[in-house]
Amino acid sequence: MAHPSIVILTGAGISAESGLGTFRDEGGLWAQHRIEDVATPEGFARDPQLVMDFYNTRRAQAVEATENAAHRALARLQADFDGDVLLVTQNVDSLHEKAGSTDVVHMHGALNSALCGACDHRWPAPLQMQVGDACPACGAPSARPDIVWFGEMPYHMDRIEAALSQADIFAAIGTSGNVYPAAGFVQLATYAGAKTVEMNLDPSMTVNLFEETRPGKASQTVPEWVESILNG
Ligand code: OAD
Repeated sequence: MAHPSIVILTGAGISAESGLGTFRDEGGLWAQHRIEDVATPEGFARDPQLVMDFYNTRRAQAVEATENAAHRALARLQADFDGDVLLVTQNVDSLHEKAGSTDVVHMHGALNSALCGACDHRWPAPLQMQVGDACPACGAPSARPDIVWFGEMPYHMDRIEAALSQADIFAAIGTSGNVYPAAGFVQLATYAGAKTVEMNLDPSMTVNLFEETRPGKASQTVPEWVESILNG
């Protein structure tokens, strides 16, 4: 195949073995917090301190976390594959970057970034953001976490959809398939004629749409899959 193209989607499951909690597994983040309180624009308008505290806590945990073998294997694939590899993550941690990936598409935003609610300027988030922090560009006291909340449009969709429309291989890793548009990527890739593979601990909501499944922990399944791609 001349210049093949791989698109990879990762979710919270790939960071679970790095100690960061997932959302929907037993005892996950959405069992402890109400989505509408901490992950919607309306929740932020109602109680900005609660939302800042939630993401400040998650940012502190993410800073301490270390990448695992799955993140490292994907960085190796990006570096060594003779073709294109687009790494798209729903995760807001930086573990792909810590593992050495240089081009990571954060479709749900990133904990290490702050966003101005008034002018959309972005800047590196301090470890602890405060309600009313001033935007360094326009001065408005409108800083918010640069996280895509429910009801908001995920980032970089044009780039992702363009890559999916040309994909030869699509892999989804550690994601439950509950949240769209990411959960629909497997269908877009299938229409494009891509081979599709799911690597997840439990079958996702969309498992039946995948051609191949590699069940298990990401730290084991992902290095094995990468090895099969690079040496296959
Ligand atoms: P979920 O918590 O919904 O799903 C995590 C998936 O990872 C589950 O299907 C688990 O079976 C799997 N899993 C757990 N441990 C694993 C391991 N060691 N190896 C492999 N798989 C494992 O997380 P996401 O699908 O990422 O959005 O959630 C999608 C979006 O929903 C998140 O980006 C977030 C959330 O609400 C926003 O906040 C906008």
